[in-house]
Amino acid sequence: MSDHPILVTGATGKSGRRVVSQLRAKGLAVRAAARSTEHVFDWNDRGTWDAALEGARAAYIVQLDGTTLVRPFVEHAVKHGVKRLVLASGRGIDNPEYANDSGGALDGLLDSEAAVRESGLEWTISRPGWFAQNFSEGFFADAVRAGEVRLPGGDGAASFVDAEDIAAVVVAALTEDRHSGQIYELSGPRAVTLAEACSTISEAAGREVRYVPLSVDEYVAELVEQGLPREDAQAFADVVEPLRNGTDAYLSDGVERALGRAPRTFAEFAKTTASADGWAA
Ligand SMILES: NC(=O)c1ccc[n+]([C@@H]2O[C@H](COP(=O)([O-])OP(=O)(O)OC[C@H]3O[C@@H](n4cnc5c(N)ncnc54)[C@H](OP(=O)(O)O)[C@@H]3O)[C@@H](O)[C@H]2O)c1
Repeated sequence: MSDHPILVTGATGKSGRRVVSQLRAKGLAVRAAARSTEHVFDWNDRGTWDAALEGARAAYIVQLDGTTLVRPFVEHAVKHGVKRLVLASGRGIDNPEYANDSGGALDGLLDSEAAVRESGLEWTISRPGWFAQNFSEGFFADAVRAGEVRLPGGDGAASFVDAEDIAAVVVAALTEDRHSGQIYELSGPRAVTLAEACSTISEAAGREVRYVPLSVDEYVAELVEQGLPREDAQAFADVVEPLRNGTDAYLSDGVERALGRAPRTFAEFAKTTASADGWAA
């Protein structure tokens, strides 16, 4: 079995590193691939693709947003005899009302899904909504540590999903037969507002974290003042749009369908993160 490892791209990221550790906990051989891992893999350097895929029996694909590199990567996977693909995608990509896409990620994600579905291999697509870990490892992490989350999110809510659950679904899809041909939309068990998320983190971490709602103009102006190009600042505001307009508040049943259990709550995420010192200064 160790001759046929499972390739995990994005292996240092929020979902990928949990996929790596959950697979290793099962005693499975894993090829953890990213630009900064021992096994160097770079989406922008096709010379690294074959070594990543060689001998792999399955692959978790965390794509580079804003590109259409998954399609040629899947062609390489087919040539290398990979049997099963699990793609990291996102909830809302098939809904034109979901959000503005000035960052240009949407077309790439749609093309990647189509490439995987048309590959002729066994495939599963993971479509998570907003990760809870944006508050601890991603977009909002520095603001949480600084005690003030300043965002144009209004009083909208999102059904944040724990990356541990995303990884568990991905691991199931990589290792069990019954997930082939499934698209799993993943959310937490309940929609949570940004104010509630901050107060839940405050309680778990034992220090105050405030949510400060901004208008889009105020937010863009703050980022520009911090040195960000206006275009990038607007792209960040677009990313937050689903929080503001509530298009990510609905619940999805992918965790239940794939794993036969309820998803973890935001409070569980906050407690686990705080007890692992995830918000230490
Ligand atoms: N965050 C959310 O709330 C959310 C919600 C829905 C969907 N998504 C989707 O989920 C995906 C991101 O997954 P994630 O949050 O688990 O990842 P992540 O935490 O953003 O990490 C990205 C991973 O990709 C690797 N990477 C970056 N540039 C690379 C390159 N040029 N070549 C090879 N590897 C590269 C990084 O490692 P190195 O830097 O070491 O190479 C890292 O391991 C995206 O497609 C995003 O659209 C995210």
